[in-house]
Amino acid sequence: MPAISGPSDGPVAVTGASGFIGSHVVKNLVEHGYDVHACLRDTTREDKTNHLLYIDEKGPGSVKLFSCDLFKAAGGDYDEAFAGCSAVFHVAADIGTDAVNYGRPSPEKQYAGLVDSTLAILESCKKAGSVKRVIYTSSAAAVMGPGQPDREFNYMHTEDDWVGGSYETLEERHKGRDGITRWTVEKAAYAKGKVDAEKAGYAFGEENGIEVISVCPCHVFGPLLGLPHNSVWQHQLGMAMKGEKMEGEKAREWNIIDVRDIAETQRLAAESDAVANGTRYNMVANDEEGELPANQFLDTLQELFPNHNICGGYRPAPTDARLRGRCTKAIEELGLKTHSARDTLRDTGNSLIELGIVPEEVK
Ligand SMILES: NC(=O)c1ccc[n+]([C@@H]2O[C@H](COP(=O)([O-])OP(=O)(O)OC[C@H]3O[C@@H](n4cnc5c(N)ncnc54)[C@H](OP(=O)(O)O)[C@@H]3O)[C@@H](O)[C@H]2O)c1
Repeated sequence: MPAISGPSDGPVAVTGASGFIGSHVVKNLVEHGYDVHACLRDTTREDKTNHLLYIDEKGPGSVKLFSCDLFKAAGGDYDEAFAGCSAVFHVAADIGTDAVNYGRPSPEKQYAGLVDSTLAILESCKKAGSVKRVIYTSSAAAVMGPGQPDREFNYMHTEDDWVGGSYETLEERHKGRDGITRWTVEKAAYAKGKVDAEKAGYAFGEENGIEVISVCPCHVFGPLLGLPHNSVWQHQLGMAMKGEKMEGEKAREWNIIDVRDIAETQRLAAESDAVANGTRYNMVANDEEGELPANQFLDTLQELFPNHNICGGYRPAPTDARLRGRCTKAIEELGLKTHSARDTLRDTGNSLIELGIVPEEVK
């Protein structure tokens, strides 16, 4: 099917529209004139919809809210939202970020929410009859990971990688010393769910003439649009600014992408002639500045926020290890213009301060 030519092709739908990435996808689309059907679980939640209504107010496109649940997708929960849409941006996943209200999903539930629900979403797209493309938010977890034992140090991941190597060797590469593979729902629900959702999505696309395209983000930062976005890595950055240690900081190698660049890529992918069913875009660093070992990440934050004692002065040992991958393909094929990692981190921190999540000064 051809690319969508723009807002004149009809409305578009975004699942996970209230979330951090989904909200930026909605914002980007509305700013480019699209009428967006924004799907979240509960449209009466003002904390999750106020910023979407503000985006609607500013236009030039519009936002219409729909209550839909991934776990009711097979029963047609998204049918109304997708009716007449030219494209669907499937961003939603139950990753436990609203555990206070909805509980934390078991590995089985998380996996089902990724794979079964994505297929049910695609069925709703097919039912709509108007949907040409689905842009799926997968994850770098489906791209980066353990390679073959002889893989080079600081291997540069590309869109050809499935968790660090070929798709065929996934189970083998996840075997422990005991010879038992960890590539199971129980041990790797998220990564396996994203890989299996992508694969099942492409097969569905092939069979049904709907192009399924994926974006695979790594560590996403950028301005929060509301308090519910204080989760995942943004939350960790806020902890560092408050002078606390970050969870897992010692071991982490960062690979930073701006949430606004993910949103832009999603719209460009829907409108581009360069993509086909099964195209993937790594949403990762644009250069080495975004591939930061833990100590350099914290030093960069300290430079950007001199009024905050980042992690109370704690720094993990320096290392040469980097989590490598670049968003070159999106830049070259779609014409994506990226933010620098420093601007991304600065804008994240400033939005945490503006929202009152982090004080203006922490000494
Ligand atoms: N943040 C990252 O660094 C990162 C990296 C790689 C991939 N991703 C992927 O990006 C996507 C969005 O992540 P995010 O960081 O924006 O997370 P987020 O802020 O927690 O957003 C999650 C979204 O999914 C929706 N959702 C959750 N469970 C649902 C359910 N059962 N039914 C319907 N909607 C449901 C939420 O809606 P409610 O308002 O109803 O809760 C929310 O809009 C996910 O697919 C995630 O796996 C994120």
